[in-house]
Amino acid sequence: METIVRKIENGKNEASIINEASAILKNGGLVAFPTETVYGLGANALDEKAAEKIYKAKGRPSDNPLIVHIAETGSLRELAAVITGQAYSLAEAFWPGPLTMILNKSDKVPFGTTGGLTTVALRMPEHTFARQLILQSGVYIAAPSANTSGRPSPTLAEHVIEDLSGKVDMIIDGGPAGIGLESTIIDLTGRIPVILRPGYITKKMIEDVIGTVDMDRTILCAADKNLRPKAPGMKYKHYAPKGELTIYEGRSDAVIDAINRDAEKQKARGKRVGIIAAKETKDRYHTGIIKVIGSREDEASIAQRLYAVLREFDRENTEYIYSESFLDDDLGQAVMNRLLKAAGHHVVHLQ
Ligand code: TXA
Ligand code: MG
Repeated sequence: METIVRKIENGKNEASIINEASAILKNGGLVAFPTETVYGLGANALDEKAAEKIYKAKGRPSDNPLIVHIAETGSLRELAAVITGQAYSLAEAFWPGPLTMILNKSDKVPFGTTGGLTTVALRMPEHTFARQLILQSGVYIAAPSANTSGRPSPTLAEHVIEDLSGKVDMIIDGGPAGIGLESTIIDLTGRIPVILRPGYITKKMIEDVIGTVDMDRTILCAADKNLRPKAPGMKYKHYAPKGELTIYEGRSDAVIDAINRDAEKQKARGKRVGIIAAKETKDRYHTGIIKVIGSREDEASIAQRLYAVLREFDRENTEYIYSESFLDDDLGQAVMNRLLKAAGHHVVHLQ
């Protein structure tokens, strides 16, 4: 299949891109588009056959449900069977924005979109282009991240092109994704709401609106085979770079010494080594390819670059990647959740 690639140029050509993409979506085709979190691979959420194409293009297991993207809160009534007061409160506080809510699905939503579940994930993106595309196509867009299953999520159009060129009808280049990590997912179908995936909207921000919520126990906790995450997608090996990624945790000096020592050891064996460092500490490393992920004083900068850094190491065929660890509060919790998964929970603890 030939993939059309279109770049949004300051809104000048937006209308024509939206027309072209709308026609594809209405016809059951696949369009990758930018959102404020990561790029999404979209198809008509109410058309089971269209949704099926997403699974094929990504190589995604069919039991892993898709998020349905909407542009108006009113659409909840069409797609969800039960809408709790909490759902309305969260929608008012955080939509449009990087929050996905799990609710019981209406009959309109096919099981092909929800991976066979009776619940549906709903999100209203903040990205204006994404919302315009939903409104003007008249299609609710089912969209997982636009990467090959298991690879880091795409935060630049070139990442999407790398993974999906030739497999989808259209890729829309809207520049870098602002946040860089996928949306926060909250399950509202139980007695107490549960965060299934941490993201830009933090537990504290949610609790300020609806009171106490739980965190799925598999978030941040070491790979425990007995724990099963509630979001089916969270159980798969994810975000993984090709090289072996190890995270070093502990006092800054100890971390730097250990990374330098291990990097030198692998370098001496002729291996390609990479280091993920904060801006504040980068000058203290002297071996391998050193990449600055962001500043410790600005967690958002780290979130924004994480996936791009992992993909850069892949392109450079880096065999061993050593990373500093980052504070796991607020947005840092989402960063560490993704980094730990990328490392397969391979962590070296230092004093
Ligand atoms: O920021 C985002 O959410 C991006 C952009 C494109 O909107 N999308 C995204 O989709 O990250 P995806 O498919 O990569 O991740 C969706 C996650 C998966 O872990 C999936 O298992 C979970 O949401 N999920 C979807 N529907 C669910 C449901 N009904 N119950 C529990 N988990 C669900
Ligand atoms: Mg994904």
